[in-house]
Amino acid sequence: MVNIIFCGFGEGQDKRIFAKQGDVLLRVASNNGVTIPTECKDGMCGSCAVRVEELGGDPDTNKQFESTVDPDAWDKDKYTTYMEDKELDTLVEMGAITKKEAESAQQYVQQTPVRLACQCIIKGPMLVKPFE
Ligand code: FES
Repeated sequence: MVNIIFCGFGEGQDKRIFAKQGDVLLRVASNNGVTIPTECKDGMCGSCAVRVEELGGDPDTNKQFESTVDPDAWDKDKYTTYMEDKELDTLVEMGAITKKEAESAQQYVQQTPVRLACQCIIKGPMLVKPFE
C-alpha cells in the first residue's frame, strides 16, 4: 500500500489515502470521493489530466517527504513507470507536456509531471493536484 495525497480538487476532497500498487489512479480517486473530470476513460480526450509529484520516503516508517518531478533532471532512483504511447500522444497534443518530455519519459521509463488519471497505474506514493 502506498500513500496518495489528493490536493486542490474541491471542498472536502483534500485527503491522504492508502492505495494498492497497480491500481488505476482514476479508480482510486473515485472510490475515495475525489472528483476528477472524465469523458472517454481511454486515454484519448485528456479531460482527466492531473499534475503528479512522486513522493519519496521511508516505506518502513511510511514517513514521507516531498520531491519534485523535474523533466530536465530525470532521477534514476525514482520509480520506473511505463507510459503508453497513447497517453503520451494525448498529453503532447493537449500541450500538457512537450515532445521532449514524452521522449524522455519513454527513454528513462519515468512518468511525466502531468498524467491522465485513467491511464495512471500507481507505482509509488504520489501527490496529485488538478491540471489547470
Ligand atoms: S478520461 Fe479521457 S483521457 Fe482519461
